[in-house]
Amino acid sequence: MSSRYPTQPVSVYAKRRAKLARQLKAQGGGVALVQSGLEVMRNRDADYPFRVDSYFYYLTGFPEPEACLALVVSPRGDTRSLLFCRPKHLEREIWDGFRFGPESAQAAFGLDAAFSMDDFEEGLGELLANQSTVYLRMGEDDALESAVSDVLKTLRGKVRMGVGAPHVVRDLSQILDDLRLFKDKTELDIMRKAARISAQAHGHAMAACKPGMHEFEIEAELLYTFRKHGSEAPAYGSIVAGGANACVLHYRANDQRLNNGDLLLIDAGCELDCYASDITRTFPVNGRFSAAQQAVYEVVLNAQYAAIAATKPGARFNDPHDAAVKVLTQGLIDLKLLRMSLKDALDSKAYTRFYMHRTGHWLGMDVHDCGSYRDPSAKPSDGVAPHTSRKLEPGMVLTIEPGLYIRPGKGVPKRFENIGIRIEDDAIVTAKGCEVYTADAPKTVDDIHAVMKEGGRVSVARTRG
Ligand code: GLY
Ligand code: MN
Ligand code: MN
Repeated sequence: MSSRYPTQPVSVYAKRRAKLARQLKAQGGGVALVQSGLEVMRNRDADYPFRVDSYFYYLTGFPEPEACLALVVSPRGDTRSLLFCRPKHLEREIWDGFRFGPESAQAAFGLDAAFSMDDFEEGLGELLANQSTVYLRMGEDDALESAVSDVLKTLRGKVRMGVGAPHVVRDLSQILDDLRLFKDKTELDIMRKAARISAQAHGHAMAACKPGMHEFEIEAELLYTFRKHGSEAPAYGSIVAGGANACVLHYRANDQRLNNGDLLLIDAGCELDCYASDITRTFPVNGRFSAAQQAVYEVVLNAQYAAIAATKPGARFNDPHDAAVKVLTQGLIDLKLLRMSLKDALDSKAYTRFYMHRTGHWLGMDVHDCGSYRDPSAKPSDGVAPHTSRKLEPGMVLTIEPGLYIRPGKGVPKRFENIGIRIEDDAIVTAKGCEVYTADAPKTVDDIHAVMKEGGRVSVARTRG
């Protein structure tokens, strides 16, 4: 019996642990603990599919539940990577499948030592004795915090025997978030693969779509393509929203009929080896945009092009949003959905009636990935307000996803009612600008018309980003 894990050379994970160790050394060393998570019951004997904790997987590549990494860093920077994991268990493996057990895990994942999770509390006691600092992601894992607290109590009880107990507990989140915010080559390669699968799934969905089908049938097409190409699961609940449902930003029911003359908004992306992709496309159910739909679509598309152009190193995270908002707002004025000057519409935020979300977010192992959006150096004292968004740097990955959502209401002509459009791509910040690596999903009006007319038999030439 075997496992496809680790999926990457173990040096990949060792390098990440070494980076973390350098940061911990700078804080005087100590023991960092990161858990893999637990299986959760869905209903009587049926579990939710287990998804390993992103931080844990980032540092180990180890896929099992009930495991914990302990990174022990001396004040001089000497580092040991230790794993606690489920022991081998013949009966459980007959029922549930292969598990590594400490011995094979240590060898397969390039760790310094591995132990059974059955010995976790005792092992933790030995690891934490005479250390000054414990690092964990505070507020994220009650079970771990409580285990550490118990161990601290026990160690303090041994003080008369000359045993020292850590007196500092530090939050690990910020250090790990900052590491994960900048993607290494391995991560970018996986993210590009995930994006290729998702882009193909969107193309197939367009080709398959016909009036009278249901949203869930299109969802099934997406899931089929994801799984067919080895993705473990969707990175988030797929949004397949026909007609007015597209104006519900996180629509999830996916159970309505698709009507001739309506648009269909699909926000769906696969997860591959724990990395998310996140793509939205909007297209006409019958394959041809109406004049009103096309007019709104082109405003959103031009807003997205403007946001893409603003995504470059040195720009701030908010710049693509501001660029998109300007184009969307001018578009709303041109379509007479807003009747005021551009300046007034921007100042009063009148556009938020039709565009109420941000233009992007970090993307990585989590669809809304970790990492601060604020400038880490911003201090009021040097004239940079603390709420200033951070500068984009090469290796960061973000989504670019403007939209317009036109619910019926005062001043909305009938032809625009219930049009909901979002166009979302994923981009890597590069040395000169950005790489839109989801561009294979058809996006221009002409490309969409062509794909839908030919039932997916044409291959779409990449146009712009
Ligand atoms: N699919 C979630 C988002 O676009 O943020
Ligand atoms: Mn999305
Ligand atoms: Mn998104």
